[in-house]
Amino acid sequence: MADTNAKLTVNGEEYELPIIKGTLGRPVIDIAALQESGFWSYDPGFKVTAPVESKITYIDGGKGELLHRGYPIDELANNAEYLEVAYALLHGDLPTADQKAEFFEKIREHTPVHDQLRKFFEGFRRDAHPMAIMVGVVGALSAFYHEDLDVSNEEHREITAIRLIAKMPTLAAMSYKYSQGEPFMYPRNDFNYAENFLYMMFATPADVDYEKNDVITRAMDKIFTLHADHEQNASTSTVRLAGSTGANPYACIAAGIAALWGPSHGGANEAVLEMLDEIGTVENVPEFMEKVKSREVKLMGFGHRVYKNFDPRAQVMKETCDEVLEALGINDPKLELAMALEKIALEDPFFIERNLYPNVDFYSGIILKAIGIPTSMFTVIFALARTSGWISHWLEMHSAPFKIGRPRQLYTGETRRDFVKVEDRK
Ligand code: SDX
Repeated sequence: MADTNAKLTVNGEEYELPIIKGTLGRPVIDIAALQESGFWSYDPGFKVTAPVESKITYIDGGKGELLHRGYPIDELANNAEYLEVAYALLHGDLPTADQKAEFFEKIREHTPVHDQLRKFFEGFRRDAHPMAIMVGVVGALSAFYHEDLDVSNEEHREITAIRLIAKMPTLAAMSYKYSQGEPFMYPRNDFNYAENFLYMMFATPADVDYEKNDVITRAMDKIFTLHADHEQNASTSTVRLAGSTGANPYACIAAGIAALWGPSHGGANEAVLEMLDEIGTVENVPEFMEKVKSREVKLMGFGHRVYKNFDPRAQVMKETCDEVLEALGINDPKLELAMALEKIALEDPFFIERNLYPNVDFYSGIILKAIGIPTSMFTVIFALARTSGWISHWLEMHSAPFKIGRPRQLYTGETRRDFVKVEDRK
């Protein structure tokens, strides 16, 4: 019979800490009773801390399993459209045919952005990093929807989720077009979600015969699905913490975009391509690996806080990579180099002992590059896709009472001391 309580004895006092079981994965120990103990829990990097309960995504890092609302990621990526996955993240189940048609129509309706936003883009230098633009522009969206910003109003929350998922591809394509000095392309509602994004990225007003490419479209849609959500990662936790103050959802998603930008998180896909450029050829791999082992550099696209086995997304990404390169007749030496790196790493004790495997970012950049997307846009695409996950967690938080997130600390600074006048300071 499993225990129902954990026991903590400290300073001669015993505390009963309830054990709470979920449907899958590790049970948790509710440590609220620590409040009476005179101690805080201490867990830098939240390695063993579950600050929330959630029904959206489950990860088994040991097995390399990822479920969205119970559906395995490989089955979703290979069979569903991204917007169907977004629907499941938002509402709990994959949509019926009628629900799918209605949801897809709602998204199509909201793909355009307020024309005034163009002026917002014009404030940036042309060489601004598109993630810098996205952090600013998404946060600014709240300035255009004053009438729907009451976070306690369910209808306001629902329409905001639709607006964000619908507009992210438009804003992402605009951030790219702006950097190219090309005119913005309006969304086309006769295209599906991925087709529309690629059209807004690569078509120009002069294109009278723009041609869709079904292989690229399918690959793009799969990449969106593979990035849609991932439990309580750093950027999702940022969205939840910002949301816990009652901040408007556009500000919360902008905070998530900012957190995602870091090279340890969503910025890794861009860093993988830079790393492959730096290594150059397979002959240079052994020397580079020595730099990794001496901790001079990290092998970007490898390792994960949760997966201590293969990242299931990386496996689907690799299959998609092979499909796209074959369909486009591209023989990208970077793919050979990445595969050589992966093979060497997976056989090297340094990586084996640390359970370091390729993660979602290791192959995504090679596909995106093959599609013609510049490296600077890789994390923007991650942010575009993750918006459905972020806003689903934000909605889940608002679906029940919640408290403002306010962690405590272990203080190791100065003890109390008196003020010293500047003339007396040494
Ligand atoms: C994403 O959380 C999520 O779910 C994120 C994400 C999502 O979908 O939201 O999955 C997306 O962010 C994927 C990760 C992308 N980042 C990278 O690829 C950057 C490279 N990876 C590392 O920076 C690192 O692996 C992290 C940040 C991803 C995880 O770091 P942890 O869990 O804090 O692990 P750690 O730093 O404690 O590493 C444990 C050991 C250390 O060695 P020792 O000091 O114990 O000897 O492994 C080493 C690390 O030095 N290590 C690496 C390494 N990653 C960890 N060594 C070389 N190369 C690496 N990539």
